[in-house]
Amino acid sequence: MTVSLTTAQIREKYLQFFESKGHLRLPSYSTVAPDPTTLFTVAGMQPFKEQFMGAPAVFDGVANKRVTTAQKCLRIGDIENVGRTLRHCSLLEMLGNFSFGDYFKLEALTWAWEFLTSPEWLGLDWSRLYVTIYKDDEEAFRIWTEVNGLPADHILRFDADENFWPANAPLEGPNGPCGPCSEIFYDRGPKYGDDTWAEYAETRESARFLEIWNCVFPQFDRQDLAADGTPVLKDLPFKNIDTGMGLERIATVVQDVYDFYSNDVFAPIVARIAELSGKPYEGPQSVSHRVVAEHLRSVSMVLADGTAFSNTGRGYVVRKILRRASRHAYLLGLREPALYALVPLVVQSMGEAYPELKEHQAKVEAAVRGEEERFLKTLEGGIQRLGGLLSGMERGAVLSGQDAFVLYDTYGFPVDLTMEIAEEYGITVDEAGYAESLENAQEIARAGSKYGKSELFGGNQEALEGLPRTAFVGYDDLSAEGEVVALVGVGERLAHLPAGSEATVVLSRTPFYAEGGGEVGDTGRLEWEGGAGVVRDTRKTPQGVFLHDVLVEEGELREGVTVRGVVSGDRRAIERHHTATHLLHAALRAVLGSGVAQKGSLVAADRLRFDFSHAAALTAEEVAAVETLVSRWVSANFPVTWQEMPIAEAKAAGATALFGEKYGETVRVVKVGGSVEYAGEPVSSMELCGGAHVRRTGDIGAFVILGDENVAAGVRRVEALAGDAATAWVRERLNAAARVAGLLNTSVDGLEARVGGLQAQLKAAEKDVVAVKRQLAEAQMGGGGGAAQTRDLGGFKVAALKLAGLEGNELRGAADKLLDQSGADLVVVAGEKGLVVKATKDAVGRGAHAGQLIGKLAAAGGGKGGGRPDMAQAGVTDADAALGALDSAF
Ligand code: ALA
Repeated sequence: MTVSLTTAQIREKYLQFFESKGHLRLPSYSTVAPDPTTLFTVAGMQPFKEQFMGAPAVFDGVANKRVTTAQKCLRIGDIENVGRTLRHCSLLEMLGNFSFGDYFKLEALTWAWEFLTSPEWLGLDWSRLYVTIYKDDEEAFRIWTEVNGLPADHILRFDADENFWPANAPLEGPNGPCGPCSEIFYDRGPKYGDDTWAEYAETRESARFLEIWNCVFPQFDRQDLAADGTPVLKDLPFKNIDTGMGLERIATVVQDVYDFYSNDVFAPIVARIAELSGKPYEGPQSVSHRVVAEHLRSVSMVLADGTAFSNTGRGYVVRKILRRASRHAYLLGLREPALYALVPLVVQSMGEAYPELKEHQAKVEAAVRGEEERFLKTLEGGIQRLGGLLSGMERGAVLSGQDAFVLYDTYGFPVDLTMEIAEEYGITVDEAGYAESLENAQEIARAGSKYGKSELFGGNQEALEGLPRTAFVGYDDLSAEGEVVALVGVGERLAHLPAGSEATVVLSRTPFYAEGGGEVGDTGRLEWEGGAGVVRDTRKTPQGVFLHDVLVEEGELREGVTVRGVVSGDRRAIERHHTATHLLHAALRAVLGSGVAQKGSLVAADRLRFDFSHAAALTAEEVAAVETLVSRWVSANFPVTWQEMPIAEAKAAGATALFGEKYGETVRVVKVGGSVEYAGEPVSSMELCGGAHVRRTGDIGAFVILGDENVAAGVRRVEALAGDAATAWVRERLNAAARVAGLLNTSVDGLEARVGGLQAQLKAAEKDVVAVKRQLAEAQMGGGGGAAQTRDLGGFKVAALKLAGLEGNELRGAADKLLDQSGADLVVVAGEKGLVVKATKDAVGRGAHAGQLIGKLAAAGGGKGGGRPDMAQAGVTDADAALGALDSAF
C-alpha cells in the first residue's frame, strides 16, 4: 500500500493548520459524555456547549475563542450496520475547529477550502469537491461560489433533516445550541459508482460522493416547542462555529482506498484477524473481520476511559459491542478468547494521540479477555437451547423468527450460526420474521435518543406497562420480603424462570436501591422456598417500578411467590461513599467558592466520582484543605438524618438542590447534624437527595482524594475513596514508595534527593551520548560527506549513506549535514531501522519529492513512511534493501 499521508499525519496536519489560524489545540475529552443528553460523547462540540451558550472561553487558564481538537466520539445508534456498509463506524475521531463568538461563516468555509485543496495541506483536487447548504443560506452559497470559486452546480440545498445540526433540531430538539450547516463531499470517481451529484439530491446515499466534513453555524438556542407546536429558536449571545471532519473518512479519501477498513490504521488489524482465524480478508463481504476490527477499537477506547463491562448504562453498551465482536470471531471459527490479542494493535495506531490507551493497555486486555471467556460460555448455553428446539421439530419445518431473535438477544447467538446449525437438522429459519423482530428491538433502542441516534436502551417498556409502584424499604432494612409481581424477558412477560435463566424481576416490596442520583443500583440475593438467585443490578422506571436483574441459580421462580431480598454487604461501602460525596461537595464550595456547582456524580462501592464547575486544576493546598475538612466531619462523628418535606420548606432551610434537576412537591433532605469550621466560617451539609447514607459521619472512616482532572471545558472531576477502600489505597501507595526507595537504596524520606541526583547524572550522560554519536556520525561520513555514494538519478544529484549505530534525531542531523557538505540535491541517510530523505529547495522546485521517494524506498525495505517534499522519514526492517531500491525509484 502506498500511503501519501498516514492517518496520524492527517490528524496532525489538521491541528497544525488550525493552530496556524490562531486556534488553541486541546487534547480529546473522555468518551464519557460531559452532559446527560447522551451516554457517550458523540461530537467534538459536546464538551464546549457552555461556551457556545456564552460561558467564558478559558481552558486551564488560557483564554482563546478559537479551539481545535481531535475528539474521540462514540455513535452507537446504527451499530448493526457496522461492518456491512463502507462508512458506519461506532468509534470515530472527529477533527474539529470551534469559534465561540469569534469568526463565523466566511473564515470557516474559506479555511476548510484552503485546508482541503492547498498543496501544502491535503492538496485534494478542488474540482472533485461538492457541498450541501441549508435551503435559504445565501451567505454560504455566496462564499462557496464567489470566494472559494466552487461551480454553482456543485451545490445542493436541503432542509433541516440534512443541513441543520443536530438534524431536525428546530422541531425535534434537543434543546440548546444548534444551527444550519454546510456539508462537504468528495467525488471518489466512477470506480465507486456511476451516479451523479444531481442524483444525490434524490438518493441521499452514495459510495461515490462521500461526506467528509460538516461545517455547522450554531447561532440558535433551541427551546421547547410553543403551545401551537411551532419551533422556538432564540438567538445565542453570539454566533459560533462548530465543524467536524471524520478522520476515518478523510483518510479513506486521501489514501484512495475502498473504505476505511483498508486504511493504514485498520489494515494491520484486519490482517491479524485473518492470520488468527486462518480466513483471508476478501473486502466488503468479509463482514466478520470488519466487525471485529471496528468494535475492538471502540471497546478498547471506552475501557481505557474507565468504563467497565456491566448490565446498565455505558457498561451495558460496551458489553453489547464486545459481544457483537465476539459473535463474529466465533463465526470466523475462533473458539477461544482471541480479541484481547488485538488490543496492542489498537494501542499501536492510536496510543500516541490518546495516551490513556497506552496507560491502561494491560487493564483493557485483561477486561476484554475476561468478558470473552464469559461470553463463550453463554454461547454454549445458546447452542444447547437451539439443540433443544431443533430436536423437537420435523425435517423441513421452519424455526420462527422470534425464536431466532431470542437466541440472538438473550444468548448473543448470531442468526447466521442459527441457520447453519438448523440446516444440519434440515430446518430453515424464518429470516423475514427474524428481521422484523430485530427491527422492532432497534426501533425501541433508538426511541428517545435525539443527539445523533446515539443511545441504546433496554427493550422491555411495553411489558412493564401498568405495573404498580414498588414499595422501597431499603433506607432502613437491608433484607425484606416481597411478592413477585412480574417476570420480564426480552420484551415479554414470562410465567416462570427456570434455573440458569436471567431476566428482570419486579417485586411488590424491595430493599434493593435502584440506580439513581449518581448512586449505583444494589446487588445481592433473592431466596424463596425451594430456590435462590443472584440480583446483579437494580434500576427503576420513571413510574417507580423497581427492576431487579436476576440470575436464577436453583429452583424455579414464579409470579406470585414470596421472596426474601438480601442486599449485598457492598451497600455499606456505597453508603460511606455517598455521605462522603455530600461532604466533599460542601468542602469544595467552602474552599473553592460558591461557583462550584455539581455537574454529575458516581457513587459506587469501590469509589466515588464528583464532577463540578470550576475553571482551574486544584492546587495541592486546595486538595489538602478539602480532604482535611471532610476528615474533621468524620472524626466529629455527627449524626446523619433524612426527612421528607415540601420542596419550599427544604429550600427555605437552605438545602442544596442540583441545578437543572426536576424535583417533585415532596423531597427528601439528607442532613449532617453538625458543622466544621473553614476560614472562621461554619460549613454545613444539607442536600436534596434520594440516596442511601451512613447513620453517623464516623462510619465513613478514612477519606482520600485520588486526584482531579478536566472532563469538559470548565468542568473538573474529583475521584475519592472512603473506608476500607481508602485505607487499602493509601497502604498500597506507601508500599509502592517503599519498593521504589529500596530499588534506589534509600528510604522514602530520602527519595526526592536521590531522584534529583540521578536526574542530574542522567542529563550529563545524555550530553555525552549526543557528543559521542555526533563524532560517530562524522567519522562515518568522512570529511565533506566523502563517504557517501553520489550518483545522478532522474536529473538530480543524489547522495546516499548508511550509518551504523544511529537513529531518529541523529539520522536527521546527519542528513542535514550531508545536504550541506556534499552539494547534492537529495540525500538519503539510512540507519539500521530508519531512513531519512532530504531535498534542497531548488530540487523541490524542480519536482523532487522526499515524501514520495521515501514511500518507494520504505516499501522495498519492508516498512512505511512519508513526509513533505523537502523532508521525510520512514521505519524499515531492511535498510540495505531500501537503499538498494534507490536506482529504480526515479
Ligand atoms: N457537530 C457536528 C457533527 O457532529 C460538526 O456533525
